[in-house]
Amino acid sequence: MKEQNLNIRYMVAQLSELSQQEQELVNRAKAATSNAYANYSHFYVGAALLLGDGRIVIGANQENAAFPSGLCAERSAIFGAQSNYPDQPILTLAIAARNGNGFLKSPISPCGACRQVILEMEDRYQRPVRILLYGENGIYCVDSSKDLLPFSFVDSNMKE
Ligand code: THU
Repeated sequence: MKEQNLNIRYMVAQLSELSQQEQELVNRAKAATSNAYANYSHFYVGAALLLGDGRIVIGANQENAAFPSGLCAERSAIFGAQSNYPDQPILTLAIAARNGNGFLKSPISPCGACRQVILEMEDRYQRPVRILLYGENGIYCVDSSKDLLPFSFVDSNMKE
């Protein structure tokens, strides 16, 4: 038996340390929290995607009295972008969340189902999706969903 290790790499940045384009993306994710329909959790999540053509598409969590029928902000944004602009790869995804006390000090990161959907986008367009997780105390930045989802499962795994 031998031990093997996986490393993930992430940077912690202040907003001013990001490019202008990424600052805008984070600000759009923060603003998108206002579009959340979070009547049950009162947890407001916003996502903003930068597409290959420079377009920004936003999403926000949408809840439902039948709880499993709701959808996270990330998948709302991704499925909306895919439905409207299917030829555009997703370059970057920014996520922000707030509760009754305002924006969270520490970032949240996407749930497992959203990570899998982001990974599918990387596989579909053969490009990594950079992910910016906003927290008031710092923004976590990873260069690919693979950093959030080690041992991931993609289409090619079924064809080996
Ligand atoms: N939520 C998101 O939209 N994105 C995440 O990354 C985590 C959770 C939503 C789902 C639900 O509407 C609420 O936050 C509480 O879980």
